Amino acid sequence: MSVPAEVVWHDVECGAYDADMPLWRALAREAGGPVLDVGAGTGRVALRLAVHGHDVTALDRDELLLRELAARAEAAGLGVETVVADAAAFELPRRYALIAVPMQTLQLLPDGGARDGFFASARRALVPGGLVAVAIADALETFDELAALPAPDVGQADGLQYLSQPVAVRERPGAVRIERIRQVVAPDGTRTSEDDVIDLRTLSAEGLAAEAEPHGLRAEPPREIAPTLEHVGSTVVMLRG
Ligand SMILES: C[S@@+](CC[C@H](N)C(=O)[O-])C[C@H]1O[C@@H](n2cnc3c(N)ncnc32)[C@H](O)[C@@H]1O
Repeated sequence: MSVPAEVVWHDVECGAYDADMPLWRALAREAGGPVLDVGAGTGRVALRLAVHGHDVTALDRDELLLRELAARAEAAGLGVETVVADAAAFELPRRYALIAVPMQTLQLLPDGGARDGFFASARRALVPGGLVAVAIADALETFDELAALPAPDVGQADGLQYLSQPVAVRERPGAVRIERIRQVVAPDGTRTSEDDVIDLRTLSAEGLAAEAEPHGLRAEPPREIAPTLEHVGSTVVMLRG
């Protein structure tokens, strides 16, 4: 069966990143209880934590990505529960010691109202004294087509080659817009091309701490994930229930 293009693009654009894994593993170990991975996608973080023996629930609004995550978990003999839900409004039957929001997922929520919904949902799902840890890219450098472009993200599936070329990162009101050209190359060289655009809301550790506080989540000193050659660094906002 062929892999859905959405899954391939997700893996091509997110799958190779691993600079944050030491921190997520350390936080999961310190938490010593169930972990909720919010915006889990195909399971880059969730599956690796499960491999290390953590009890992980993967939440995402995208059912296709979670189906792939579940298939990978099953193939690896891992038990990872999946939940299709909106990060801005979820209600779960279990409580978690760590709620992890890796890789700028919170910046994909449209506005403060949605973040308020996330903090309310997370607080409900957290054990007393548990930790909500939110990664934000707060130092994205802007560039456009005139600049030397970064190397494309590449991958292969079903005999097709996938290339995702970032072409611009632009300031927008309250957000940073990342523009990519996604190309699929067939074995005979035929190419299809489409534009892809995502907006990451501009957030700061202090601003998130202030939004989380009314929900009974207290800010602890943030942690840093250093930049790599391919990826910007992030700040991980630490909020204690
Ligand atoms: C940048 S990817 C990160 C994927 C994965 N956590 C990782 O670190 O590789 C963002 C993920 O958040 C999910 N997402 C975006 N908005 C969401 C929302 N409102 N509720 C739940 N998931 C959401 C997307 O479907 C996608 O899987």
